[in-house]
Amino acid sequence: MTAQLNPCGDVAVLVPAAGAGIRLGPGAPKALRPLAGEPLLVHAVRRIAAAPSVHTIVVAAPVADVPAVRDLLAPVAPVTVVPGGAQRQDSVAAALAAVPAGPGIVLVHDAARALVPAELVESVAAAVRSGHDAVIPVLPVVDTVKEVSADEVVRGTVDRSVLRAVQTPQGFRRAVLAAAHAAAVDPLTDDAGLVEKQGVPVVCVPGSEYAMKITRPFDLALAEHLLTVRA
Ligand code: CTP
Ligand code: MG
Repeated sequence: MTAQLNPCGDVAVLVPAAGAGIRLGPGAPKALRPLAGEPLLVHAVRRIAAAPSVHTIVVAAPVADVPAVRDLLAPVAPVTVVPGGAQRQDSVAAALAAVPAGPGIVLVHDAARALVPAELVESVAAAVRSGHDAVIPVLPVVDTVKEVSADEVVRGTVDRSVLRAVQTPQGFRRAVLAAAHAAAVDPLTDDAGLVEKQGVPVVCVPGSEYAMKITRPFDLALAEHLLTVRA
């Protein structure tokens, strides 16, 4: 039986969590590393489960940790756990294949964005529900951005006013995401990239600083601090 949260919800959330976390340094897979005493994945799933439209959550876990992740998440929320793949895209495809009939909207959210607000999950889902096939949360780029050559010599300054930093959850009409994954050839770092290749317009909504991706030790320290000042 497939676990579900709100049986009337129209949203399935896929949570790729099968990465190693190489850039975080030696240790357990990133999604299982502690943040304020609980694994990143627990923080992420708890926030996703708090979004009222969510019907189903499917987590793609590191292959060796599937039973442990099931046990870890059982007290947090009803969640389906599947083995992830070699690339993020494979993990998303595996999770997508486990979504039951019902939800017409599919969101993809990185476990590494552990502090995502439930409100962001809802706002991305709402934008898909309002008629957009593909929706991504974004923030403005604050740094000056330079294009450089292979030997680190500046070629020019990019106009940052037309750039956006992209977060997750990314939201899609289910059939659009399924078609994009079925047609995928090269692995990409996000799902909107696959949908763009299909010629589907992708719409931006405001992201959240709290949806920051925990990639390096500095990010983990920052997330710990954010939890402390919020508590
Ligand atoms: N991910 C996944 N399956 C993979 C690779 C990544 O499910 N084969 C997930 C990660 O667990 C993470 C998200 O995709 O939640 C974003 O990837 P990233 O931040 O790059 O995490 P890691 O791949 O774990 O980190 P690193 O690249 O530093 O090893
Ligand atoms: Mg990675």
